[in-house]
Amino acid sequence: MDLTKRFNKQVDKIAVSMIRQFDERVTNIDGIIKLTLGEPDFNTPEHVKTAAHDAINQNFSHYSGMSGLTDVREAATFFMKEKYGVSYQPTSEVLVTVGATEAISASLLSILEPGDKVLMPAPIYPGYEPVITLAQAEPVYIDTRSNHFVLTPEMIEAAMVQHGEKVKAIILNYPSNPTGVTYNREEVKAIADVLKNYSIFVISDEIYSELTYDDQHVSIAEFIPEQTILINGLSKSHAMTGWRIGFIFGPEKLIAEIIKVHQYLVTAASTISQKAAVRALVEGMNDASVMKEEYRERRDFVYEQMTSFGFDVARPNGAFYIFAKIPAGFEQDSMKFCVDLAQQEAVAIIPGVAFGKEAEGYVRISYAASLDTLKEAMTRIGNYMKSNS
Ligand SMILES: Cc1ncc(COP(=O)(O)O)c(C=O)c1O
Repeated sequence: MDLTKRFNKQVDKIAVSMIRQFDERVTNIDGIIKLTLGEPDFNTPEHVKTAAHDAINQNFSHYSGMSGLTDVREAATFFMKEKYGVSYQPTSEVLVTVGATEAISASLLSILEPGDKVLMPAPIYPGYEPVITLAQAEPVYIDTRSNHFVLTPEMIEAAMVQHGEKVKAIILNYPSNPTGVTYNREEVKAIADVLKNYSIFVISDEIYSELTYDDQHVSIAEFIPEQTILINGLSKSHAMTGWRIGFIFGPEKLIAEIIKVHQYLVTAASTISQKAAVRALVEGMNDASVMKEEYRERRDFVYEQMTSFGFDVARPNGAFYIFAKIPAGFEQDSMKFCVDLAQQEAVAIIPGVAFGKEAEGYVRISYAASLDTLKEAMTRIGNYMKSNS
């Protein structure tokens, strides 16, 4: 009896992310420095940890309501209003999810039907496509390489004309993983002006919003709230990846549908983490700013180093990634390049191909590591480039 043959066929079509696969492949190399995972190297702020201790001691050990504890929903909507000027009702227009990951799954599984198409700029975070595939829908990538990874209204318009009625949604992610590119007010508004002409959902994953270096982050929900499913969370802003707290903000009617899928996926997020989240969102409203200053310094350092080694880098304005084109004359198969670099110099960076075929020939560096670690990593990459040129 081979029960593997009886799995949902869609599961055959998805795989564990190449980021994780690559990370596991190089993890045993002696002395390896890993700039692989998209995870802050900072600890969760002390006051947030204290709030979790208090929650345990006060017996916050029961289920919360499906949409989350009232105080978290109030804190989250207050945060969004203060920071980005977008207004949501805490009672009906927000869901507390298990990280942005569950927010993505619950949203996509709520709206997608077999045969639907979902537009996405490429390269992009690889966490969306598998959920689209599970829903028997189809990802449609809009190649942004020719425009320094910046999606334009014209590109969206062209994709809409080509794919028409089948398009159910577009996914935006800015600041972007893996490119670090983000959009200013005019650019966001111009994209919103096109999208409002179409009856499609706009799933906007703004999980890196607090890590925007040069301009203020502008949410697309400011312009087209009625069609936006806005995703955010505390993983990156408060160095809380393991606490698993994310949010979906949206119009009441959409949230009322998504909550059904959310309920059967997870019931609710951890109550203890939710209590910690209240502290993060209220007293820790500006917790990200200290981390942001350090990230900025690291970004400048890694950008300058990688450029000096001959990599072409789109200067990133957000998140904590450098996305770099492997110079001509070097191995252009990004997997081979990264494996060889890891084996020769014990430094691990992610092959671009993990972010789709448009990202072949590139590498992604996560600079969520101390400046000392980054300095050593850059010395090693510099040595590799010298000895292989
Ligand atoms: C663009 C993007 N969205 C979502 C996530 C997942 O976030 P969470 O840890 O809150 O589930 C990540 C994590 O790397 C990400 O880069």
